[in-house]
Amino acid sequence: MSAAALDLQSWLDLRCREVNAALDARLTASAAPAVILEAMRYPLVGGGKRLRPLLAIAAAEAVLERHGKALEAASALAMPAACALEMIHTYSLVHDDLPAMDNDTLRRGRPTAHVVFGEGLAILAGDGLLTEAFALLAREPDGVPGVPADTLARRKLQAVAVIAEAAGAAGMVGGQAIDLEAAAAGAAPLDAQGLRDMHARKTGALIRASVASGAVMAGAEDAELHAAVDYATQIGLAFQIVDDILDVEGASADLGKTAGKDAAAGKPTYPAFFGVEPSRRLAAECLGRALDALCQAGLGGQLAAIGHWVVTRRQ
Ligand code: IPE
Ligand code: IPE
Ligand code: MG
Ligand code: MG
Ligand code: MG
Repeated sequence: MSAAALDLQSWLDLRCREVNAALDARLTASAAPAVILEAMRYPLVGGGKRLRPLLAIAAAEAVLERHGKALEAASALAMPAACALEMIHTYSLVHDDLPAMDNDTLRRGRPTAHVVFGEGLAILAGDGLLTEAFALLAREPDGVPGVPADTLARRKLQAVAVIAEAAGAAGMVGGQAIDLEAAAAGAAPLDAQGLRDMHARKTGALIRASVASGAVMAGAEDAELHAAVDYATQIGLAFQIVDDILDVEGASADLGKTAGKDAAAGKPTYPAFFGVEPSRRLAAECLGRALDALCQAGLGGQLAAIGHWVVTRRQ
């Protein structure tokens, strides 16, 4: 059956298997010493929803579909970006869990990287994953049938720029810094705007870059790219609001990470600021705006269904 005709769960299962195989192949091909490769492989291949790679591939499919092109090209075009995004996301989790940051011992249902390998190797594993992500983006894809080499090179450069900006100090790293500062003793509390800005950077930026890089690699026109980014901005905020709610309501066994840590650490979160029910409503409003953006641009495929999954997920 073609990817276009699959229901969300079957599509997620299919694409998730492809992403996992692609990640594994990249690590297997690495020339890194075993000591660091093992510390990189452990957090990367040990589970995770793979939301960011799945969004990149879904965005590529949505653009190809709108252009009347075969969806089969989505993997060839967007899988390197998809893998790079998951490597960057995983590095952010390894560092987020360090004692100097959130000090977590459980991640993806297993002891965190620093618990298993020690802090030094966990820091280096994050460094290795981040750097390998950009090496991969520079190397691949090195040719896609039907896409001229100069067009492909231009798209790759745009994807690198989008992902670098999102991962860096103006994006995820900046958001993590705000998070750290805001939870420090004696820090001034964030207001609603400050909270939204922190979430937009620490989580939203990579989710926006996932959708944007997938769309760019598939040859999105400006209007399609803008609509895709509008969708992703809303989904990114909804995703972190739900993450905050699950920290309050979820069980560690379901989440694969320690529940209840945000309140204990005095983290600025949506439930802490607005309460759980209003936060749920705000996430639902984000989904509504995300779906409107898709509708207006005529972007179909799995993006809408992924949006619903993001706000209804239990893990
Ligand atoms: C957790 O991300 C960290 C946040 C940005 C909220 P995910 O919930 O996507 O974690 P995995 O990848 O499924 O483990
Ligand atoms: C982390 O946010 C966002 C990242 C950039 C990793 P959280 O600290 O809320 O993520 P979890 O709850 O530990 O997964
Ligand atoms: Mg954190
Ligand atoms: Mg954390
Ligand atoms: Mg959290």
